[in-house]
Amino acid sequence: MSIRSQPAAPLRGAVSLPGDKSISHRAALMAAMAAGRSRIDGMLRAGVTQVMLNALTGLRIEWSWEGEALVVEGAGRRGFQSPSAEGAGEAKPLNCGNSATTMRLLSGALAGKPGWISNSIRPEFILDGSEQLQKRPMNRVIGPLCEMGAEIRSIEGTGCAPLALRQSPLKGIEYRTPVASAQVKSAVLLAGLSASGSTLVEEPSPSRDHTERLFSWLGVRVEAGQCRARVFPLQEPLPPLTFKVPGDFSSAAFLLAAAAIVPGSDVLVQGVGLNPRRTGLLAVLRRMGAEITAEAQTESAGEPVGDLRVRARPLKGTVVEGGEVVDMIDEFPVLAVAAACAEGITEVRHAAELRHKESDRISVLAGELRKLGIDIAESPDGFSIRGPVKFPGGIADGHGDHRLAMSLAVAGMVSQNAVAVEGPECIAESFPGFARLFNSLGARLE
Ligand code: S3P
Repeated sequence: MSIRSQPAAPLRGAVSLPGDKSISHRAALMAAMAAGRSRIDGMLRAGVTQVMLNALTGLRIEWSWEGEALVVEGAGRRGFQSPSAEGAGEAKPLNCGNSATTMRLLSGALAGKPGWISNSIRPEFILDGSEQLQKRPMNRVIGPLCEMGAEIRSIEGTGCAPLALRQSPLKGIEYRTPVASAQVKSAVLLAGLSASGSTLVEEPSPSRDHTERLFSWLGVRVEAGQCRARVFPLQEPLPPLTFKVPGDFSSAAFLLAAAAIVPGSDVLVQGVGLNPRRTGLLAVLRRMGAEITAEAQTESAGEPVGDLRVRARPLKGTVVEGGEVVDMIDEFPVLAVAAACAEGITEVRHAAELRHKESDRISVLAGELRKLGIDIAESPDGFSIRGPVKFPGGIADGHGDHRLAMSLAVAGMVSQNAVAVEGPECIAESFPGFARLFNSLGARLE
């Protein structure tokens, strides 16, 4: 299967987006831990969040959809139960699909035995996932969790999934992570909720802070600074959550980039999350010359939300490096497409972490853009592109990476002929309705 993206007429109109993936994951998991019934409006209903919900089912958590809202009956004082295989004593694997967030956050949430559970049972869990997920580094969570006293290991000794985990008493630690990663930080902080003493995570540069914001909104004692977060153990289960998840900035990124480069475009994206640890692309696109204004700002569960209006303008190249990289870690594939339309050189540095995403987002991106006629130079920790390029387009492969597939579709909109993206099914992992939404603005995705 493939989708064909043809040169687009100006993109015009107003749209709202599916819920934020990171906040949806955290909200579903915290709702599952809470005592009572939670209601999460605007929960992202997509592949990556479905695997979190399936895993929660495996942990004997009941959830259901009420319209667009997810309703969850939390485990509360009962705690998570182990899914056991038919007839056997051992745990049945919780399938995290392609979702590293699900696997890393669950590792932290399942590792510790909360203080309010007095029995001596220590449930066992196995976390597994797709072939793609089995290649992604899990040592980065295994290390700090073991330091806290967790019994967690990579079953095949590769540092990757499948992981085996037995709930155990934990102690708080002070952990300095070598990579800025919100998934690692969140896994350790979630484990910290059931540890003895407080738990500190320090990072080389600040990563997205949705976990800290939700904790604080729920009344958990957490001290969050620029590159550090300290959480204190819970004395009782989390309270239930009722709030609306903002639209996903990382989905908005495709609209912002496309509207910035398709001449004559003028698009309003409504109700999108504007957490500054996520909106690095805004500053970069503005620096490149895009006209983007933020309007109607509000808040939801401690997260800033607003509308973004973007109008196409001629762009020029820029340099993206240092802390800015973390604030737009998921946006580099689409930045590369915008860079191809910008005058001069765009250079990305300090982004070696891109090699550990759903695909190696440096080499795979470079390979696919070259197939379309875009010349991109790869470096160990980034890439550079000299634009503007008038590129013919052609056939490119999404490599099972949702953000790569969507970026290639955006490339089609500014190609001379069209881009056919093979394997577009992965788009539904994070952005269901991507083609429909773009077509409602004037794109031609078939
Ligand atoms: C996420 C954090 C980022 C991001 C991913 C979602 C999260 O990963 O790439 O899509 O929800 O915490 P890292 O924290 O590993 O950089």
